Amino acid sequence: MGKPLILDGKKLSQEIRADIKREIDSLREMGYRSPALAVILVGDDPASHVYVKNKRNACEKVGIKSLFYHLPKNITTEELLELIAELNSRQDVDGILVQLPLPSHINQQEIIMTISPEKDVDGFHPENLGKLMAFLDDGFVPCTPLGIDILLRHYGVELKGKEVVIVGAGFIVGRPLSLLMLWRNATVSVCHIHTRDLREHTLKADVLISATGVPHLIKADMVKEGAVVVDVGISKVDGRIVGDVDFDKVKEKASAITPVPGGVGPMTVSALLMNTLKSFKKRERIHLTSTMNP
Ligand code: GUN
Repeated sequence: MGKPLILDGKKLSQEIRADIKREIDSLREMGYRSPALAVILVGDDPASHVYVKNKRNACEKVGIKSLFYHLPKNITTEELLELIAELNSRQDVDGILVQLPLPSHINQQEIIMTISPEKDVDGFHPENLGKLMAFLDDGFVPCTPLGIDILLRHYGVELKGKEVVIVGAGFIVGRPLSLLMLWRNATVSVCHIHTRDLREHTLKADVLISATGVPHLIKADMVKEGAVVVDVGISKVDGRIVGDVDFDKVKEKASAITPVPGGVGPMTVSALLMNTLKSFKKRERIHLTSTMNP
């Protein structure tokens, strides 16, 4: 293979953010309020801190207010539920994001179920996951799957009839992404920790997407010549950020590949901004353009 096409999520995410900023600026000139996202972080996990800081900075840059709630790790489920109930009822809050993972004593499922589906810009509430299953466009698609879909479409990666193999079946990425790829008419396989022969599956992939958080799980001998490779992993190894994919070797076989950092990560944040703007426009009854059927 020649040099692969680099799927530049950083560049595309900047273009998306510039468009969002323009749109919010013009809505403000028309007299609308600023959109607002409430971001809740529980405890002091260093990676979560970084993710939340990136999301809040991105909000502020495009004109979305970010309301930050940093709560101690010993907060109870009930206290967190109370805060969410208050944010659900506030007219000036368009989105509510609870950074995951939560400490183990907190009932994560109950927290997700309590966020109003109309403000669930993460798309984790069963009502929004149900809308994704039904391909109804008025819900929220989880940010990482939405960001990947936009990135692939931007670069003209054909999905119809293609073998898409997703490694990782988590509810934040792998599972919702499998639904989205099915809606794109791909033949979808989802591999996970109990998959017997991972390589047997990955070798079939026209589009291979890995979302496990296992550094360099995907080696060159697991990738078909000419495959498109999307790396969702973000791990720290010896102080360096690395993905799920052994990039330097795999890039010799791939026709296109996402870098880490600068691939899927910034697209996830831009998808969050898109979802927050979508919520704002729905709540303010401003005409919506589709995110699923652009
Ligand atoms: N933790 C890892 N990814 C995500 C995400 O997309 N949203 C939230 N809320 N927490 C996460």
